[in-house]
Amino acid sequence: MNDDTIRVGIFGVGTVGAGVIELLSENRTVIEKRAGKPVKAVKAVVADIGKKRAVDMSQIELSDRPESILDDPEIDIVVELIGGLDLSETIILDALEKGKSVVTANKALLAEKSMSIFPAAYRANGCFGFEASVGAGIPVIRTLREGFSGDRIITISGIMNGTANYILTRMTEDEMEFDQALKGAQELGYAEADPTFDIEGIDTAHKLIILMNLAYNGLFNFKDLKTEGISSITSADIRFARELGYRIKLLGKACHTGQGVEGRVHPALVPEGHIMASVNGAFNAISVTGNYVGPSVLHGLGAGSHPTAAAVVSDLIEASRYHTTGQQTPLFPFSVAEDQLQPLKMVPMEDIRSEYYLRFNVQDQVGVLARISKILAENNISIRSVIQKGRTSDPASTVAVIIVTHESLEKDIQKALLSANQLDFVVSRTQLIRIEPN
Ligand SMILES: NC(=O)c1ccc[n+]([C@@H]2O[C@H](COP(=O)([O-])OP(=O)(O)OC[C@H]3O[C@@H](n4cnc5c(N)ncnc54)[C@H](OP(=O)(O)O)[C@@H]3O)[C@@H](O)[C@H]2O)c1
Repeated sequence: MNDDTIRVGIFGVGTVGAGVIELLSENRTVIEKRAGKPVKAVKAVVADIGKKRAVDMSQIELSDRPESILDDPEIDIVVELIGGLDLSETIILDALEKGKSVVTANKALLAEKSMSIFPAAYRANGCFGFEASVGAGIPVIRTLREGFSGDRIITISGIMNGTANYILTRMTEDEMEFDQALKGAQELGYAEADPTFDIEGIDTAHKLIILMNLAYNGLFNFKDLKTEGISSITSADIRFARELGYRIKLLGKACHTGQGVEGRVHPALVPEGHIMASVNGAFNAISVTGNYVGPSVLHGLGAGSHPTAAAVVSDLIEASRYHTTGQQTPLFPFSVAEDQLQPLKMVPMEDIRSEYYLRFNVQDQVGVLARISKILAENNISIRSVIQKGRTSDPASTVAVIIVTHESLEKDIQKALLSANQLDFVVSRTQLIRIEPN
């Protein structure tokens, strides 16, 4: 270890990496006061060393060889900001093995390879920080790990993807269709050329599973998390939801019920007066309810160069304090001791209960509502309200019938929709959106 400076090696100088280099330079005085020593980015590894960078790299040795950082005994902290699964896993495991502290923002890796990364982080001599992996500028990891460490966490629920939230906000406020709102998000740089992870709920699922692992003291299997995105939401759904007093939001939700822990990601109808309904544009909000602390909400920018860099640097300061004070043992990377870090199971999706919004697209005929109602009743589903728009004079035209149910069992709803979708007057797959909070 270098005596008078904390030396940092950064993998990746893209959106986040450039923000970290900029922040370490701009706020160096306050960072030094808080870390106990100057914290300097001295080396960086990128894919293309010839590429023009958004930040001043004159004080940083640039390479495309991972060993230039990993094999340097003078590097105290390795920051992994390249993303992806394989190379980033190798880098992190190697750095931990060599006794360096590691900071990462890689939610995909932490969600999908938690069984390889976290046990290694416990065994390592250095610190392991991942505050930037969820909520970027919202300090939810530290809040769960430290602030609420005395609580039993009952619910975690929130809007964890700014791109999806921006698209839904445009669809709501500007009455746009999904494709048009997505195009606008891409033009503004909120959505990537391939937006799959954001719009299909995968990014939210990565974040939710990290929070679930922290909150419920173990490791869930990412593949068990039911994940639905927003690409099937239409402007008609947004309009009907409004008529019923709701907004549509993409939620990640985990909940400790009598049956165990539920986890799911899907669009949801949220009551207009609910705090999540007013979280708009690229903002995120995460609500955590503990059995003593009660409900609390964290709100802020969940992505972007500066907010994400702020979270990375907060971990760099924590790791620097460890190196500066010569502590023998780093903080737990998780909420619990290593021997408590067990694989955990989720309640199967079919066993959850919710209220449901159903939009049937049907031919404009007599008796439609009666036949749908019969199928719902046969499957133990009771109806809370119905919107059926006035009939047209054209029997060939299609109309929407909206049904809101009372709380029902997911497997009953799925069974009912399987039957309803076979009805001769149902012209396309019925839209199902869960209603939250329930
Ligand atoms: N962007 C955000 O707002 C945000 C928010 C929270 C978390 N994160 C996470 O932060 C991480 C980085 O995201 P980002 O948006 O900064 O990504 P990015 O802009 O695409 O930057 C990636 C960087 O990694 C480098 N890289 C890629 N493959 C490499 C390889 N094989 N060897 C060496 N370097 C390689 C790239 O090098 P070149 O520049 O030479 O191509 C680039 O500098 C990801 O895990 C992401 O999920 C991002």
